[in-house]
Amino acid sequence: MLNPIIASDSSLEHPMPITSTINQLSAPVGVTLQRFIANEQRNYPQAKGDFTQLLADISLAAKIINRDINRAGLISLEGSAGAENIQGEDQQKLDVIANTRFARALRLGGKVCCIISEEEDELVHTGNEQAKYVVAIDPLDGSSNIGVNVSIGTIFSIYRRRTQRGTSPTMEDALQAGSQQLASGYVLYGSSTILVLTTGHGVNAFTYEPSLGEFFLSHAQLRFPDSGKIYSCNEGNFNHFCPRIQAYLESCRDQNFQGRYIGSLVADFHRNLLKGGIYLYPPTQKAPQGKLRLMYECNALALLAEQAGGMASDGTQRILEIEPQKLHQRVPFYIGSPNMVEDVLRHLSN
Ligand code: AHG
Ligand code: MN
Ligand code: MN
Repeated sequence: MLNPIIASDSSLEHPMPITSTINQLSAPVGVTLQRFIANEQRNYPQAKGDFTQLLADISLAAKIINRDINRAGLISLEGSAGAENIQGEDQQKLDVIANTRFARALRLGGKVCCIISEEEDELVHTGNEQAKYVVAIDPLDGSSNIGVNVSIGTIFSIYRRRTQRGTSPTMEDALQAGSQQLASGYVLYGSSTILVLTTGHGVNAFTYEPSLGEFFLSHAQLRFPDSGKIYSCNEGNFNHFCPRIQAYLESCRDQNFQGRYIGSLVADFHRNLLKGGIYLYPPTQKAPQGKLRLMYECNALALLAEQAGGMASDGTQRILEIEPQKLHQRVPFYIGSPNMVEDVLRHLSN
């Protein structure tokens, strides 16, 4: 006789034993993001709670965007907004909405003096001149996947401002090297919504529980496997890569690696973090600096990668050491499991 808590469908030859799953589900839910950050703050007795508040503002914006994304198809939020951003890319309605959601949350939260955003030509002043933090964001990463129900994300970096509080923030506050980040993270709106965060003490991931409206710690102290078998690259550009990158990609094929490319950087990075792999966006003849943006894509992921035991390079130096020259600067990008990044760097230096 079937155990009553085993699936009772008689057509199932091997009913799935779900007892253990049920036990797991009824176990006490874990630590919320808010509690986790508050606990971390206890290590800094001088902290006044501003940073905790800022992370709460970011997570609130992420929850609202998550809701917008889930309803996008129902309320016509898919498709083009009819304008281009400064990089000549077609802005999607959700790009614009996500940007507005973040800007509003950060302005009203009061802890951020200025914002660098993919969707804004210039540095955005929030009007909070007393605030001590600067945020760089890619409000929606993977825009081309919005209309086709494929995972997309949000990427963010947090810096301390350099100019004096009470004054108007300047480019000196905005153009800081990635090594100066106090924290970075991303939200992946995928089969579940997950917020992955580092404050410089490893990498932790928090899965969203929509019915409770909370992020719960689900993956503590994530580490990149030293190596892996996945390479993520837009091989449609193969003919435009330099011979060294072509040789590297051929070596991946020779080793029977798995090619996996979602086209949302956040989603490709997240899979590689969990399974082991490398993501690369090398330069092409047409785009000699590659495609990805240092300030709101590469720096955040580079900090996460290094905090998780991985590596991130532009082919010649650590991403985190690059001194930025402009807000929308692009860089070649090689990131992931340390042995795999070292391998591509070896190919580049041959
Ligand atoms: P965004 O949607 O924020 O503009 O970023 C798109 C990025 C990144 O998410 C992705 O990995 C890459 O562009 C894909 O580029 P290709 O289509 O050239 O492969
Ligand atoms: Mn992006
Ligand atoms: Mn984007």
